Amino acid sequence: MANTQKINGIVHFLINKICGRAYPFFVEIRLTYKCNLKCTYCNVWDIDKLELDKMAWFKIIDILSEKGCVFIQITGGEPLLKQNFFDILDYIHHKGIMTNIITNGTLIDKENINRLKYARLITFSLDGNKQTHDLLRGKGTFQKVVDSIELSRQLGINVIIASTINKYNVSDLDFMMSFCKEKRLRWFFSFVADYVYAGLNINKIILDERDKREFIRKIVGCYDNSIMITRKKIFIDYLNDKVQYYTHYCGKLFFFIEPDGMMIPCCFGQDLVCSTNLLKDGYKVSMVKNLKHSCKICPSFSLLGYNDSFRLNPSSIIHTLRLLSK
Ligand SMILES: C[S@@+](CC[C@H](N)C(=O)[O-])C[C@H]1O[C@@H](n2cnc3c(N)ncnc32)[C@H](O)[C@@H]1O
Ligand code: SF4
Ligand code: SF4
Repeated sequence: MANTQKINGIVHFLINKICGRAYPFFVEIRLTYKCNLKCTYCNVWDIDKLELDKMAWFKIIDILSEKGCVFIQITGGEPLLKQNFFDILDYIHHKGIMTNIITNGTLIDKENINRLKYARLITFSLDGNKQTHDLLRGKGTFQKVVDSIELSRQLGINVIIASTINKYNVSDLDFMMSFCKEKRLRWFFSFVADYVYAGLNINKIILDERDKREFIRKIVGCYDNSIMITRKKIFIDYLNDKVQYYTHYCGKLFFFIEPDGMMIPCCFGQDLVCSTNLLKDGYKVSMVKNLKHSCKICPSFSLLGYNDSFRLNPSSIIHTLRLLSK
């Protein structure tokens, strides 16, 4: 089943890429707004809107599976707080679709870790050393996430570390590199962004363009292929103002689904007019509207990285396969 879904997905990928049609190859789903933390740059926990239940998510997964989806990334809020989270995870797995769970790592323990074994990847958010991480995410959260990372590794789960870079942790680069090197973990970062669910004082901690470039220059200087998930060339292209010419696959091969079923091209696209509800408006309308979205390429490194994995050049393909291999 799993292999059939993957082969089906790759065939769909090639046909739709060549024809320029929209197709949900890689979909990120926000299962819930609920969260047990209140990180400085994030206000998603404060959203009080309707959320789909387990059966509605099963319907969405059925649609995505039928259309050849290969990869579903699960986010939130904190995904582990979603009622019936593990049923949803199992359902995706049994449809042969690979998963990546993005988590703050505070709710994983010896009792539930076994139920995460179907995840292809777990991405843990880690924002710097103990002092910085606890400052941005709450007291005691550093030790909890480090313990969950260890636990996941012991079970042989493929772990990724994600940092959200802002004024508080921009100087923690050396820590992140040595932490990941020592624990043999792979790492990517994105810059804190101002979008509809951003924290209230976001402007105080967002990096300006000059600081972003300085950070990227440092990354290029200490780039380590065994740690970094984003290819070095992307950083160099960013510094040379070339990333705006990259082909952009959000709303074409990559989609984002909100807790109420709203389908948008990416996690920052809540206010784009193309939004449709996958269950209410149906698959065709959602694809056509998302494909027609227009927005300027934003400098989100995580999304530049995702977009890179859809490119059919040898370095991107090798890089993506390396990421998915244990
Ligand atoms: C919204 S969280 C949901 C998953 C989980 N609660 C966690 O923190 O990993 C997913 C990722 O978005 C990042 N994030 C939150 N607010 C952001 C913002 N304003 N700009 C950029 N990334 C943000 C978080 O740091 C985290 O890595
Ligand atoms: S970043 Fe994640 S852990 Fe922090 S408040 Fe937002 S959803 Fe919660
Ligand atoms: S340009 Fe940025 S905001 Fe627009 S769809 Fe792409 S990633 Fe999202």
